[in-house]
Amino acid sequence: MTSILVTGGAGFIGSNLSDRLLAEGHRVVAVDDLSGGRIANMAEARSYGKEFTFHNLDVRSEAMLTLFQRSRPEVVMHLAAQPGVRPSIEDPVHDASVNVMGLLNVLESAARTGVRKVVFASSGGTIYGEPRRLPVKETAIGGSRPLSPYGITKKVAEDYLRYFQRYRGLDFTALAVGNVYGPRQDPHGEAGVIAIFAGKMLAGEAPAIFGDGNQTRDYVFIDDAVHAFALAADRGSGRLLNIGTGLETSVNGLFRMLAGIVGFHGEPQRAPQPPGELRRMCLDHELASQELGWRPWTHLEDGLAETVAYLREQQG
Ligand SMILES: NC(=O)c1ccc[n+]([C@@H]2O[C@H](COP(=O)([O-])OP(=O)(O)OC[C@H]3O[C@@H](n4cnc5c(N)ncnc54)[C@H](O)[C@@H]3O)[C@@H](O)[C@H]2O)c1
Repeated sequence: MTSILVTGGAGFIGSNLSDRLLAEGHRVVAVDDLSGGRIANMAEARSYGKEFTFHNLDVRSEAMLTLFQRSRPEVVMHLAAQPGVRPSIEDPVHDASVNVMGLLNVLESAARTGVRKVVFASSGGTIYGEPRRLPVKETAIGGSRPLSPYGITKKVAEDYLRYFQRYRGLDFTALAVGNVYGPRQDPHGEAGVIAIFAGKMLAGEAPAIFGDGNQTRDYVFIDDAVHAFALAADRGSGRLLNIGTGLETSVNGLFRMLAGIVGFHGEPQRAPQPPGELRRMCLDHELASQELGWRPWTHLEDGLAETVAYLREQQG
């Protein structure tokens, strides 16, 4: 049994990850300021009794060090973040405050209290900028130009992680995760398009497609993403690793698939393409396969069907 501190533990990925770690027999200390996360996301984790504790804390606060001193985690999963591209364009100062200063506060607290390893939630969809070759490999990070402040803060995080590994003895793995989707997804996050489209279609309304709809993304099912974090607790030392399927799916394709699953027969609305968005993206996961023994497992159609079933249940 390992003691694992999960920041962003009330969020979409963090809460699913906490459930998974608890099921594996670990003790989980979750930290979240509930700015985006929800108490309801932790319902399953709470059923584990004293193996799960939750602290309503800002990752930038001084109280973090005290929490580290008291709970003495062996591993930290750092997922707390300002998680959106568009909010980072509207307020880059806030984005950097949470995503850079929050990360530094976590790394400093971890290094001072003898944490073995930090697993970081990076963003495969933004750190590489517009990729020259697809599927994009981790080596493309050298000289990449992220298109948004969010992509910049997620990219610079890797340099800080390397610094702390080299000079402070704190091991790390940075997971450059694709667009994660599945139950508990917040419609406003990076891969919110699936939750938004499905939600609208279930309500009988037409979702809006931005631009021509030919832009592509690499969609990863939540269970697969969470599996990568769990594996990285003990593997992938000092690495940036892509967590994606290697497959491109266009927004138009996603619309058609979801319409088929939901039974929606309308046409999409059209809206202009917002700034900061990539044209095409998919991630090469060969290195993650070698280092973590991770491979994508869930087919998009199956993951979408499960997500729609969850949303149907939520809408009651
Ligand atoms: N969802 C995706 O497709 C995706 C893709 C790549 C990377 N990521 C990264 O994975 C992580 C989790 O993303 P998510 O989709 O679960 O988003 P989320 O918004 O559901 O989770 C982020 C959590 O961080 C919390 N938080 C925000 N600011 C905080 C602060 N100052 N102190 C403490 N807690 C704070 C929020 O309340 C929220 O619960 C983020 O770092 C995100 O950038 C997500």
